[in-house]
Amino acid sequence: MTPSPAWAPDSWRSRPAAQQPIWPDEDELKRVHAHLTGLPPLVFAGEARHLTRALGQAANGRAFVLQAGDCAESFAEFSADAIRDKLKVILQMAVVLTYGAGLPVVKVGRIAGQFAKPRSSPTELVGGETIDSFRGHMVNDDLPERSARIPDPRRLVAAYQQSVATLNLLRAFTKGGFADLNQVHAWNQEFVASSTEGQQFEDIAEGIDRALRFMSACGINLTAEDSLHEVDFWTSHEALILDYEEALTRRDSLTEEWYDCSAHMLWVGERTRQIDGAHCEFLAGIRNPVGTKIGPTATPDDVVALCERLNPERTPGRLTLITRLGADRVDDGLPPLLEAVRDEDHPVVWICDPMHGNTFSADGGRKTRRFDDILAELTGFFRAHRGAGTWPGGVHVELTGDDVTECLGGVEDIVEGQLDQRYTTTCDPRLNARQSLDLAFAVAEMLRG
Ligand code: TRP
Ligand code: MN
Repeated sequence: MTPSPAWAPDSWRSRPAAQQPIWPDEDELKRVHAHLTGLPPLVFAGEARHLTRALGQAANGRAFVLQAGDCAESFAEFSADAIRDKLKVILQMAVVLTYGAGLPVVKVGRIAGQFAKPRSSPTELVGGETIDSFRGHMVNDDLPERSARIPDPRRLVAAYQQSVATLNLLRAFTKGGFADLNQVHAWNQEFVASSTEGQQFEDIAEGIDRALRFMSACGINLTAEDSLHEVDFWTSHEALILDYEEALTRRDSLTEEWYDCSAHMLWVGERTRQIDGAHCEFLAGIRNPVGTKIGPTATPDDVVALCERLNPERTPGRLTLITRLGADRVDDGLPPLLEAVRDEDHPVVWICDPMHGNTFSADGGRKTRRFDDILAELTGFFRAHRGAGTWPGGVHVELTGDDVTECLGGVEDIVEGQLDQRYTTTCDPRLNARQSLDLAFAVAEMLRG
């Protein structure tokens, strides 16, 4: 296919590019770019094609997507334990959804590359001084000081290195025994296991044990069934900093097509999805599965135009639309979008991001989200799809494996006064492990109808 007459990894440069940092040292940026261009890819084109096929199942109503991870990964909180704990909660959610809905779950992490953040303002006021906004550890540091906020191109290489190490460990865990269904009890962390949701999870884990014993007793050789012992776990992040994404874009030697090898899947955000802008131009030419966030200002025409631009060949699984309308707007806003895309016969994966349309500042100034609003947007999402006869293909959530207090509510009922206790995110508030599990049970229920 030909996205633009002469697409190239750098053709985005002739378009307006929103949300790019102003790097103070252009020569340093050029050196870093050249260096990254020579480094090995993180993923292989064949894997991206494999994910497109898996997502194609979700476009056709035969699978469900779980896309989950940090709002922003952090250089400071980088450890094997943190990666393991995040994977644990994602595996728990996947099991709950697979078991509860009886559907294959496509597991996609917001991980191993999610280091850049779009901002509503390029600067902020700290103690009377105007300094650059924090744009993610790929660009600058979150410390509220002028010098920490100066964009540093060497951070692109650090982000690459951390992504490499993260993906390496994820591959080890998911293919090396940690994700084995025989380990299902081990994913229930202590502070989760003691809770109601944790108990409910143990019930499912016992159900799985029993099913495995049953199959074994029937004479099925479970050891030989690879699918019981490992999972396909895909990586994704927002393709925001195009200097980075361009440098990791390579031509596949088998097909001669271009792939952004920084992750399996890439998406553009609500602030960078301009149809003639640099980000859409970049996504249009890479062959990875791609996505776009869809916020409350998007019209049916906008959404159809995005489908034409990003998936002119109508390949199922190529394009995912991630809606983030807010609990109070989903009922009115979503149906017209679903109908327009349906009537144009565009095969898309519809995913609900119930996080970003439901953020507000609590009295103490902390950014937070109410668990009930998150569930309400999900309920509206399922209702709208039922009405339009389209498939609610997945969820996109920000979570952590840690026992944080960043989102309000849930079974443990975190209240505003508790936000300060364990509020560690570098950007948006994330669901903690118990709230995440809670959400998975609720979604499994919605999928059963
Ligand atoms: N491989 C299957 C799948 O990914 C079954 C499976 C193995 C699984 N380990 C898992 C499912 C952990 C969810 C979570 O669906
Ligand atoms: Mn976020």
